[in-house]
Amino acid sequence: MIKHKVYILNKKWLNSDVFSIECGPLKINPAPGQFLQIQVNNSFDPLLNRPISIADYSKNKVLMIIKVVGRGTKILSAKNKGEELIVFGPFGRRLKLRRKKSIIIAGGIGVAPLYFLARNLKKLRTDFTFVYGAKRPEDLILKQEIKKISSDTVFITESGSKKTGTALSVLNGMDLNDYEIGYACGPKAMLKELKAMNLKLPIYAFCEDFLGCGCGLCLGCAINYYGTYKRICEDGPVFELKGIEFND
Ligand SMILES: Cc1cc2nc3c(=O)[nH]c(=O)nc-3n(C[C@H](O)[C@H](O)[C@H](O)COP(=O)(O)OP(=O)(O)OC[C@H]3O[C@@H](n4cnc5c(N)ncnc54)[C@H](O)[C@@H]3O)c2cc1C
Ligand code: FES
Repeated sequence: MIKHKVYILNKKWLNSDVFSIECGPLKINPAPGQFLQIQVNNSFDPLLNRPISIADYSKNKVLMIIKVVGRGTKILSAKNKGEELIVFGPFGRRLKLRRKKSIIIAGGIGVAPLYFLARNLKKLRTDFTFVYGAKRPEDLILKQEIKKISSDTVFITESGSKKTGTALSVLNGMDLNDYEIGYACGPKAMLKELKAMNLKLPIYAFCEDFLGCGCGLCLGCAINYYGTYKRICEDGPVFELKGIEFND
């Protein structure tokens, strides 16, 4: 497990409960799907490091986008530019990118790892449509950046003033025959519903769950994948959606 001491070079609130931090110097060569484990405090409270996806990386700087949901992310949200941070990683398998017309399906904070994927697909000059759903219009972050790099975008919210719905309701109205591959990240309920839609194209799901050790030892993050147990942290976090047996 590689430990790095980095500094917060930039911090920005993207809405009332999501912030981004750019940290460095960090000499890694990450691929989409990979994540870092952030040490929240110098003390043992909270004990476990928190997994956060790599949302972008260039020139020895990493971008992470974090939603405040509980104690650990709240403590992280109080940190400011110039502060030191201990991070471990990168963890997770490197996703092999394919030059195939893709559809990216993001729900809520699931947009973070998919933004890094999109930036990499753009570098590969691969066409993709970015469908992004969130609860409220203010929850849709990085809209301009996503528009700039995507061949096509659809943004939708559950409580917007114009067209309302979810990322999955958007898919229902689309002709997906044009796409060869899909990538999705969002709440487990979204991934379950997406699986139940039985789309013809292969979909790769970025899974997020509670991690214990975060490095393959505790089996706390095991999921049933094509009938065998796989660890989200070590074997994933990206798996083919149709092979995942979701538990409740
Ligand atoms: C591989 C991976 C990548 C991730 N990438 C990101 C990212 O880029 N940005 C981001 O904001 N978050 C990401 N997460 C989720 C993030 O790790 C958790 O939100 C964070 O650990 C919560 O810590 P906490 O101490 O604030 O919350 P806790 O106090 O531990 O929990 C507070 C509440 O949040 C819920 N919760 C906690 N963790 C999760 C989770 N993983 N999934 C669903 N609900 C949860 C709990 O049910 C609880 O109600 C990722 C998780 C994984 C496994
Ligand atoms: S979190 Fe321990 S094995 Fe994945």
